[in-house]
Amino acid sequence: MEPIKIALIGAGLRWTRGYHSWVMDHSDKIEIVAVAEPKEDRLNYMKKEYKLSDEKCFTSWEPLLEYIKDKKIDGVAICTSDHEHYKPAIACLEMGLHMLLEKPMAPTPEECFNISKIAEKNNCIVMVAHVLRYTPFFSKIRELIQSGAIGTIQSIQHTENIGYFHMAHSFVRGIWNNKKESNPLILSKSCHDLDILLYIMGGSPKATKVAGFGSLKHFRKENAPEGATKVCSKECPSYETECPYSVKTYLTTGGFKESVNPTGACDPESLEIELKTSRYGRCVYHCNNDVCDSMSSIIEYDNGVNLTFSLSAFTDLVNRTINIMGSNGQIRGDMEKDEVTIAHFGKGEGLYRNKAITTFNPSKEASSTENNGYAGHGGGDSRFLEGLVSAIKGNSKALTQASESVESHLIAFALEESRVDGKVIFMDEYKKNLKK
Ligand SMILES: NC(=O)c1ccc[n+]([C@@H]2O[C@H](COP(=O)([O-])OP(=O)(O)OC[C@H]3O[C@@H](n4cnc5c(N)ncnc54)[C@H](O)[C@@H]3O)[C@@H](O)[C@H]2O)c1
Repeated sequence: MEPIKIALIGAGLRWTRGYHSWVMDHSDKIEIVAVAEPKEDRLNYMKKEYKLSDEKCFTSWEPLLEYIKDKKIDGVAICTSDHEHYKPAIACLEMGLHMLLEKPMAPTPEECFNISKIAEKNNCIVMVAHVLRYTPFFSKIRELIQSGAIGTIQSIQHTENIGYFHMAHSFVRGIWNNKKESNPLILSKSCHDLDILLYIMGGSPKATKVAGFGSLKHFRKENAPEGATKVCSKECPSYETECPYSVKTYLTTGGFKESVNPTGACDPESLEIELKTSRYGRCVYHCNNDVCDSMSSIIEYDNGVNLTFSLSAFTDLVNRTINIMGSNGQIRGDMEKDEVTIAHFGKGEGLYRNKAITTFNPSKEASSTENNGYAGHGGGDSRFLEGLVSAIKGNSKALTQASESVESHLIAFALEESRVDGKVIFMDEYKKNLKK
């Protein structure tokens, strides 16, 4: 089988840590034919890894598009930061290229609509990287719901546990910490969740009413421990013992260290030097962050389901859990444990305690051995790439086409508006008022 030919736009952390190793191991499926990346070290790294000549490496996407315009390639992967998706996406779609488009699609509803509209017009596959649709965990939950195992869904409780240090790293110190420069938390962190909830319910449910609640409560300067230094260091009285967000975590546990210095050295000594000037060395109480640190959302859908969604920084695990209540049974899922259970109402002995329960371990049970060893997003990253290859080859339908992703993005925009303005948003009216 000939590999699909892909040009890469934006060789940052998402590509290098999420997709690169699978692509390297599957050169029979994807061939990277050109790369655009302004950061010299990242560009050089890709050049070496994919054995590209100088003429195939660019410091921005515009000259890359000029280079590929008369070449026969299958598509592009757009992995630039959130605010830099739209322009290259539109330019590539106007050239008729298929695409892997990182989520969120774009920072405004109008831009999301436009991407979807131009993709449809030009018959382009735009696979938005809602990789959870490709995970064994959520595929199993969807399959059980579709099989009627719990009757009709009545309501859902969904939880996204960001993890206290992940929050500090990505949404307080990191590149998603400020709405103006990136996006509101509900979009940057949870468009995945808002999308997967639509997917598991099946059909094409639409939200009818949404309400969001939450604020930035903790990571503010007034909550800094006494004497806290603006740059996190041993001079801060809370560094060693009290502060769970101290940069000591990078140095001692190794967690997130590649994000601090993606292509450079990650030994404690080099990291310590990097942290003195890096955004990741800042005290969490003295950053330019403005995104909320926990959010509760309520959504009602046109299939009659109502849902509560809790998103919080203050959790010990990075995990998603879900509780789906149906007319004939209940599904509980814990992604970290790779566990999905169904309680079948009215079956088994006794009333509540001895009910019949079936347990699944979806990732363990997933039949494909192809993607073993690629753990990103519970196996979603590697399966998503398989899906991209298959969709471009015409062997299967993409599970995450842009036209479907627009709905979850709109829910996120509306939830944020609701949170900020303190009102319930009626989605029909909200959509009518958007400039398309
Ligand atoms: N699907 C997921 O689960 C998931 C997970 C993490 C991140 N993401 C998304 O992936 C995207 C990238 O995130 P990241 O963590 O890699 O960020 P990053 O900042 O590490 O990478 C973005 C890269 O784009 C490059 N870039 C900037 N301008 C460019 C231009 N004109 N032409 C070409 N490249 C350019 C930057 O130099 C940078 O290396 C974001 O939209 C992010 O939200 C998705």
